Amino acid sequence: MVSTRCSLLLTIFPLICFSSIAAYNDGQDPIAKTMEEFSGYPIHEPNFPNSVSSLSVDATSLQNQIEELSTFSDAPAPAVTRILYSEKDVLARRYVKNLMRISGLSIREDSIGNIFGLWEGSEPELAAVSTGSHIDAIPYSGKYDGVVGVLGAIEAINALKRSGFKPKRSLEVIVFTSEEPTRFGISCLGSRLMARSESLVEVLKKTTDNQNITFLEAARSAGYAADGDNFSSVFLKKGSYSAFIELHIEQGPILEEEGISVGIVTAIAAPASIKVDFEGNGGHAGAVLMPTRNDAGLAAAELALSVEKHVLESGSIDTVGTVGILELHPGAINSIPSKAHLEIDTRDIDEDRRNIVIDKIQESALRIAERRGVKLSEFSIVNKDPPAQSDEGIVKAMKAASEELKLSHKLMISRAYHDSLFMARVSPMGMVFIPCYKGYSHKPEEYSSAEDLGNGVKVLALTLAKLSLA
Ligand code: GLV
Ligand code: MN
Ligand code: MN
Repeated sequence: MVSTRCSLLLTIFPLICFSSIAAYNDGQDPIAKTMEEFSGYPIHEPNFPNSVSSLSVDATSLQNQIEELSTFSDAPAPAVTRILYSEKDVLARRYVKNLMRISGLSIREDSIGNIFGLWEGSEPELAAVSTGSHIDAIPYSGKYDGVVGVLGAIEAINALKRSGFKPKRSLEVIVFTSEEPTRFGISCLGSRLMARSESLVEVLKKTTDNQNITFLEAARSAGYAADGDNFSSVFLKKGSYSAFIELHIEQGPILEEEGISVGIVTAIAAPASIKVDFEGNGGHAGAVLMPTRNDAGLAAAELALSVEKHVLESGSIDTVGTVGILELHPGAINSIPSKAHLEIDTRDIDEDRRNIVIDKIQESALRIAERRGVKLSEFSIVNKDPPAQSDEGIVKAMKAASEELKLSHKLMISRAYHDSLFMARVSPMGMVFIPCYKGYSHKPEEYSSAEDLGNGVKVLALTLAKLSLA
């Protein structure tokens, strides 16, 4: 059994195979035992020093798949818009599931459409090692955000299969539902729910999009939520995974500027988002004189500037704040805005410092409303998430993989959030970054070269192999 399993491996992937023997047999195998006694070396330690040359990643196919997936978009190329449960999202999901099928993964989906593709290991009762990311794309964004971590994970599985590697712990590729908050205003919806957020189950019962479509209706239109809105079925059992690793473009310029191939993420910054509504009196843009106005639009403009001020007051380059949505009602050039809606994103690697900014924004909103005679009809903190730390063991495995592949690497933090932020609540977590052109992301110019993609997939594959045998 062992020798048939390994005949391929011995020619293509010798050392992974070697450690697999030990792992399968937990030191009991007589051949392994004899070899160990004979050589005087323990062979139970997973050890891969020469295996990397047999790991062949097809980066050209991967780049082609990224291009193909980008055509499922509601924006004209090169921009990509792919909103949760839209027709294009459903088609993109079908495309990915097909690739999973071709790779021989067994597919299942949960009630909100998180997709799982499993490669069963020789010891399926052990906690699996998982990897994945998202395929939804914010309006007018690029082709690589999230997609690299999904299609790259499938290619990592293909590369391991081609090498003859056999996993001990099962390997699972996950496509998370709605990492982007575009449609329902909730970021990392799929992973947040997998990480057992009871409050999100309740919120989803009432949540609607800007067309007043409920989350349940939207999920059903995409073929999910057959059993209604008790989404706690999505919760992961603690201990389901021994590790989760996400491959992602850096979304910043550091790796490219420093000419480094791989970023090994040690922590993910703490994100928060806030919704604000001001209501004034509105009126005729010519007839209402300036001293008598209660302009909700100007209150919003002033609050946007306060966000910038409070963020800069923190004194740290790590504190950031953005007003990405600012809507005025009724939205006519000759009408004083009677309502204004803002959505504010603020983040920091230091949670307390980020929370100080949130408090200051709230104080400013109250003060501005009072001074301008408008009503602050809503100030809601949609999420106020803590940061996440990567698991030391996974960081070590990613570093070892990069070294064995002779790829330059550096430890870094992720300023963007990812599904990994939530997976860290239910599993040891790690992330691999690859360089992207000028650090561009969330815009159509997003790009990573085939070489960088190939490097990232190799590091991912080798790390998955190590963790599968651990
Ligand atoms: C994820 O897309 C983020 O906004 O960090
Ligand atoms: Mn994104
Ligand atoms: Mn992303």
